[in-house]
Amino acid sequence: EPGKYAHEDEAGRLPHQAWDRYPPRKFYELRVRQAKHSFHPHLPEQDIWGYDGLLPGPTFVASYGEPILVRIDNDLPENATGFGSPEISTHVHNAHTPSESDGFPGDYYSRTKYGPTLTRAGKFKDHHYPNKLSNSADFPDSDGDPEGALGTLWYHDHRMEFTGPNVYKGLAGFYLVFDNLDTGNERDERPGALCLPSGIGKYDIPLLFQDKTFDSGGYLYFNQFDPEGIVGDKFCVNGKIQPYFSVERRKYRFRALNGSSLRFYQFYLVHEGVYQKFHHIANDGNLLTAPLLTDRLRLAAAERGDIVIDFSKFPLGSKVYLVNRLEHLDGRGPTGRLLTPGTRILRFDVDADPAEEDLSRVPDVLRPLRAPVVPANTRVRRWDFDRENDLWTVNGRLFDVTKPAATIKLGVDEVWELRGKGSWSHPVHIHFEEARILTRNGLKPPPHERGRKDVFELRPGEVVRILICFEDFPGKYLMHCHNTIHEDHHMMVRFDVVP
Ligand code: C2O
Ligand code: CU
Repeated sequence: EPGKYAHEDEAGRLPHQAWDRYPPRKFYELRVRQAKHSFHPHLPEQDIWGYDGLLPGPTFVASYGEPILVRIDNDLPENATGFGSPEISTHVHNAHTPSESDGFPGDYYSRTKYGPTLTRAGKFKDHHYPNKLSNSADFPDSDGDPEGALGTLWYHDHRMEFTGPNVYKGLAGFYLVFDNLDTGNERDERPGALCLPSGIGKYDIPLLFQDKTFDSGGYLYFNQFDPEGIVGDKFCVNGKIQPYFSVERRKYRFRALNGSSLRFYQFYLVHEGVYQKFHHIANDGNLLTAPLLTDRLRLAAAERGDIVIDFSKFPLGSKVYLVNRLEHLDGRGPTGRLLTPGTRILRFDVDADPAEEDLSRVPDVLRPLRAPVVPANTRVRRWDFDRENDLWTVNGRLFDVTKPAATIKLGVDEVWELRGKGSWSHPVHIHFEEARILTRNGLKPPPHERGRKDVFELRPGEVVRILICFEDFPGKYLMHCHNTIHEDHHMMVRFDVVP
C-alpha cells in the first residue's frame, strides 16, 4: 500500500539495502499497544506499553543465517497521558542490521508524526533482520564465515529523547538466535552440538531484570526530565516484582538481561546462607570460549549474561535465591560496595525431580575465538564520556540526529578508546558490530569480557580500548551510553559507515 509505510523515500520506494543478499524467509507482525499489566497482586492492574501488549514482549526465536522481516505496527494511543512518547522506533540490540531497519532514534513514527530521519508518518514500519554477523576474523573457521555466533539479543524502543520512559513502560523483549552448534536442543546428537539446557520457557529461561518505582497509589512512576535519573526500589523479573520460579532437580540455562534504566547488578546464588557456584557461559550476545565456574554475575545496564545452574545438587524442597548485592544509590553508578545479605530478586523452588534424565551439558569448549589482532597503522579514535555543565556529552558534544560525528570506512579495522571522564559510570553500547576488548585500563580484560561484546562498562576514570570493524551495510548507526537517562539527554553519537 504505497503511502502507508513509515520508511518510504520521497519516490515511495522502500529502501532495503540487504534485500537481495538476504531475502527474508519468515514474516512476523508485532503490534505495539497499551495493555493492562499486573506487577504484583498487591498493586493495581495498570496500563503498560508492550509489544503485542506484553511485558516482556514476545520472544523471537531466530536461526542464524535465516533472514526475517518484522512489521511493527504502532497501535499506541496518540494522545497518551503520563510519561513516554507514543511514537516508536524499534532496535534489535546487538543485531547486525541494515541501517534503515536498525531503529535509529530519529526514525520514529506514529500514524501522524514522524522523526527527522524519516520522510513520512505511517501506521507501521518494516524491519529486515538478516540474522548474520559480519565475516569476522574472530572465528577460526577456515571459510571465514562464523559458524553462527549469536545468542541472547533483545529488542527495545529507541525513540529519540524518550527511550528511557518507553522501555520503562514495557517496550522490551528477547531476541534469541540459535545456530548449528547452539541448537536449542539438548538431545541433539549431531557432532559439535553443544547440548546446553534447552527448551525456551522450560529449561532455557530468559530473565529480564528491571528496577521500578511505584507511587503511593501503586502506579509506575518515572521522571524523564531528571537528568540524573532514579534507581528503582522494586525489582522486577519478567515484569513481576521479586517472583518465584519452580524448578526441577536438573540444569537450567538462564539468560539474564539487565533491562534497567540505570541500575547495575551483581548477582549471587544463595542456598541456606551459602554462596553457590554456577557456570557463566555467555556474555552479551555471544558464548564465551569456555564456561567460567563462578559465584557472581555482574551486569551493567543493557548487558546480558547466560548462566547454567545445576539444581540437582539441592535437596527437594530447597529454596535457592538469586540475590543482588551491588549497592547502587543514585544515577552516579554502583558504589562498588557489596551488601550482605543484599536483595532477594528471584526465588527458585526446587520442588520436583525431572521426569526425564537430564542429558544437557556444559561443554568444556563453547565458542573458539581468535585472540584479537590489531593490524599495523590502525586508526585510533578517542571517545570521552563526560558530564559538563550538567550536560551528558561525548567528546564535548551532544547528539546530533541529522549529522554524523564521525564517518567510518566499511570493512576497515579501528581501535576505539572509550574514556570515562568525571565521576559517573557509563555503560557504553555500540550498534551494528560487536567488538573485542583489547585492554581495560591498560590490562587484559577479565575472562568474562574476552568474548565479542556490545556493551562496555565504563567506570569513572576508566579507559577501555576495543577493536572494531563495520562490515556489510553502509548507513547511519549509533554509539551511546545505555543509561537511558543519559542517552535521552543526548549522550549519543551518530556515525555513518561509508563504502
Ligand atoms: Cu540497546 Cu542503542 O540500544
Ligand atoms: Cu552514561
